Amino acid sequence: MSVVLVTGGAGYIGSHTVDALLTYGDQVIVLDNLSTGHRGAVLTEHFYEGDISDRELVAEIIQKHGVEAVIHFAAKSLVGESMQKPDLYFIENTGKTSQLLQTLVENGVKNFIFSSTAAVYGIPEDVPIAESATISPINPYGESKAMIESICQWMEQAYGLRWCALRYFNAAGAHPQGHIGEDHTPETHLIPLILQTALGQRRNIGIFGEDYNTEDGTCIRDYIHVCDLAEAHVKALKGLLQDLPNGPYNIGTGFGFSVREVIQTAEIVVGSSIAQQMLPRREGDPAQLVAQANRLSEATGWKPKMSDLQTILSTAWNWHNRHPHGYTE
Ligand code: UFG
Repeated sequence: MSVVLVTGGAGYIGSHTVDALLTYGDQVIVLDNLSTGHRGAVLTEHFYEGDISDRELVAEIIQKHGVEAVIHFAAKSLVGESMQKPDLYFIENTGKTSQLLQTLVENGVKNFIFSSTAAVYGIPEDVPIAESATISPINPYGESKAMIESICQWMEQAYGLRWCALRYFNAAGAHPQGHIGEDHTPETHLIPLILQTALGQRRNIGIFGEDYNTEDGTCIRDYIHVCDLAEAHVKALKGLLQDLPNGPYNIGTGFGFSVREVIQTAEIVVGSSIAQQMLPRREGDPAQLVAQANRLSEATGWKPKMSDLQTILSTAWNWHNRHPHGYTE
């Protein structure tokens, strides 16, 4: 059993990871300021509403619970917003994570799992993308996360920080039990928008560009089920407490699907056609993002189990049907 502090544990990926940790019998403490997370998504009795930059609170949590490791999700994560307000992203993500790391090291916590992103690669030169690919973000969101990875490297050198950065590709799906799932305001992600269209909450799903250099002209992404992603954090945590090498790990499946393929599979899952509208390209979308994703598997035995498109969509559909207005109902 480990004692783990999860920042952002009221968010989408954070809540699924808390669920997985609890299943393994770990003691889990959630710290979340509820700026985008939901109180109803917090699955542990140990919940603190507060900010990662509150040094006194973080130190108190560490001492009180005997925290051994931190999984850090709390962040701003909207690419478009980061283009409008880059300063916000560097303060909220890079600045506050530096403060958090300082508090952790000062209080003797040296195991750190960081929620990174495929956005650190920008427009990749080669697909599938290996961890050794050039880091070249094209938006402040990706840059703010890439900077944190560098900070971890320096803190490893200075203080012996044990860390890994999990670079997520496209997190999707929901817990098969239907008690937690995706609920963002505003919602910008493809799969929830498709399913909200199927529920009649939106008129249609807009397809951002059909003139990409891909087989059907729409963008290709590597969709990873959020429960597989959660499991990756558990494996990384157990690995870090033993001999898992520090550094970045891609978390994807190694398989890509186009926007059209996702919509077609959604139509099969929901059993009806879904209205579509062609739109111009969205700024900053690379044509293809697919992970070379064997580093964590080779090191820990982690393997995606639920990340076939049908399972992703049917678990998400189950969540949206049961909670058509997210956590407010
Ligand atoms: N898309 C549409 N219509 C929509 C929404 C999305 O066609 O209404 C397309 C996008 O153009 C993209 C694909 O569906 O090709 C997936 O888009 P999402 O917005 O669901 O996800 P992204 O790939 O843009 O974003 C994900 C993560 C980000 C991360 C980024 C890395 O959610 O946090 O990958 O580039 F930064």
